[in-house]
Amino acid sequence: MTMETRGLGATGPRVSALGLGMMGMSDLYGPADRDEAIATVHSALDAGITLLDTGDFYGMGDNEMLLREAVRQRDRGNAVISVKFGALRGPDGRFAGYDARPEAVRNFLAYSLRRLGTDHIDVYRPARLDPAVPIEDTVGAIAEMVEAGYVRHIGLSEVGAQTLRRAAAVHPICDLQFEYSLLSRGIEEEILPTARELGIGVTAYGVLSRGLLSGHWDSGRDLRPDDFRARSPRFQGENLQRNLDLVEALRATAQAKGITPAQAAIAWVAARGEDVVPLVGARRRDRLAEALGALEAGLTPEEAAELENAVPRGAAAGERYPEPQMRHLPA
Ligand SMILES: NC(=O)c1ccc[n+]([C@@H]2O[C@H](COP(=O)([O-])OP(=O)(O)OC[C@H]3O[C@@H](n4cnc5c(N)ncnc54)[C@H](OP(=O)(O)O)[C@@H]3O)[C@@H](O)[C@H]2O)c1
Repeated sequence: MTMETRGLGATGPRVSALGLGMMGMSDLYGPADRDEAIATVHSALDAGITLLDTGDFYGMGDNEMLLREAVRQRDRGNAVISVKFGALRGPDGRFAGYDARPEAVRNFLAYSLRRLGTDHIDVYRPARLDPAVPIEDTVGAIAEMVEAGYVRHIGLSEVGAQTLRRAAAVHPICDLQFEYSLLSRGIEEEILPTARELGIGVTAYGVLSRGLLSGHWDSGRDLRPDDFRARSPRFQGENLQRNLDLVEALRATAQAKGITPAQAAIAWVAARGEDVVPLVGARRRDRLAEALGALEAGLTPEEAAELENAVPRGAAAGERYPEPQMRHLPA
């Protein structure tokens, strides 16, 4: 199969139509096998996936070192490395706010370049808006790093329409990373139209709603306390059952087309537009192979509508983040 490519906004690089999100290989989703994770990155690159997404706070730098190890055995030039920065954490892993001051931008970037073993990052973005710092200052500081050659493109993550406009007035923004799935459609009302108006692409994360929509999830799954899903409202009690009922409806619709629920969920996001690139959080080769199958599904508008009938907009039970983290989100 030849990998389809999409432009990351009007000013960004062309990337594979599916990106690999590496977070779960180091953090937040329970134990992961490092060798299998590296084999999964290799398998992704071999399949033509170019977009690799990480964050300096995923495993407190571990995820970047894993990426370095995986890419060292391949051609760095074939990888578009996207890095989020700014999330603060304690030694116990707890999240403790955000720091996107210009001096923090330069500091975080210096550490990331060293951990990644590269002289440039392809897309660099604050993980969230730092409420204490005007976005113009953060983007201005990254723009200086673009000028100096350490960063190629600037992205954003989970910001609202007004912030997009203010940021784009300082420097071209190639993409906005945002949770977007059949269960999370908050971006559609105002943010996506604004991104489109400004020529900003979308890298969609959580397209499987962190595994919930994959068809592999069941209510008996044991979660360690440090697993994000142990606190995520959508994975709790009655909410979980209601969401899994939606997945069964998705499964039935997907089966009629001969695809799995995960493939249907990924294909639905990919069908939102040429300017939307889904990231999948595969950390094993079998999961990656399933995700890649979604690119061949080629949904017609009618099929996409059938999936939306199975999982109607707004049907998700529970917010997409625990309450304290919701305060940092625009939608
Ligand atoms: N900007 C932001 O704020 C933000 C936030 C979160 C994530 N992200 C980025 O987006 C990436 C993807 O997000 P995510 O990992 O939360 O979302 P996801 O792709 O919705 O979920 C990944 C989970 O789905 C499960 N899964 C089951 N079948 C799968 C399949 N065929 N392919 C892939 N995964 C399958 C995985 O399973 P197993 O448990 O079996 O491995 C894993 O637990 C992250 O890795 C990260 O780079 C960005």
